[in-house]
Amino acid sequence: MKINYFGHSCFELEVGGKRILFDPFIRGNALATEVEISTIQPDYILITHGHADHIEDAVEIANQSNAMVISNFEICRWLESKGVQRTHAMNIGGHWYFDFGKVKCVNAVHSSSMPDGSYGGNPMGFLLESDAANLYFAGDTALTTDMKLIGEYKRIDLAFLPIGNNYTMGIDNAVIASDFVRCDRIIGMHYDTVEQIKIDQDEAFGKFAAAGKELILLSIGGTFTFNR
Ligand code: NI
Ligand code: MN
Repeated sequence: MKINYFGHSCFELEVGGKRILFDPFIRGNALATEVEISTIQPDYILITHGHADHIEDAVEIANQSNAMVISNFEICRWLESKGVQRTHAMNIGGHWYFDFGKVKCVNAVHSSSMPDGSYGGNPMGFLLESDAANLYFAGDTALTTDMKLIGEYKRIDLAFLPIGNNYTMGIDNAVIASDFVRCDRIIGMHYDTVEQIKIDQDEAFGKFAAAGKELILLSIGGTFTFNR
């Protein structure tokens, strides 16, 4: 499984011959100016919640790629009103089998309004099960004991956790979250993009290492190949 990073919480997975894009936010990210949006051609776009820093480029990328958007009901309806053709609406607790694997929507403790202020439903995280790996993509969330259910439910090979603090959990709580989901390999996200979420990366690496875990921080435009 190959993972491409486009900054903030925007990742593209290549799994089962499909490209799956998470939380597209590139144009508004001052750190991601080198990323060429027109080259991003996913088969699916997964969106955790309605905030601009997770959805701002979704309409453009969905239209140029004809990707299917998977998100909550309210976000799918909003995207359709903006001209997105293909959506699959879900909600927390549900799962569905797609041609790349199984997606289960899990709880996230956050908020979710759309960029125009309309209602964005409940924020979610995603559990993605495929032949290549089982992934937990937390979205924007606080630490929550609900994460223990994820660890009990499935073996998680790789967890995408926010570590930037202020709007989400920070480093210390993300270490606990990785314990709750029983995962020792963490890809950090939602950090350094703006002043409020700047982190000390050495501190982050040290705290995860002290807990016996590996923290991976990708450079924007960088890729990571995961093997179970
Ligand atoms: Ni948010
Ligand atoms: Mn956010």
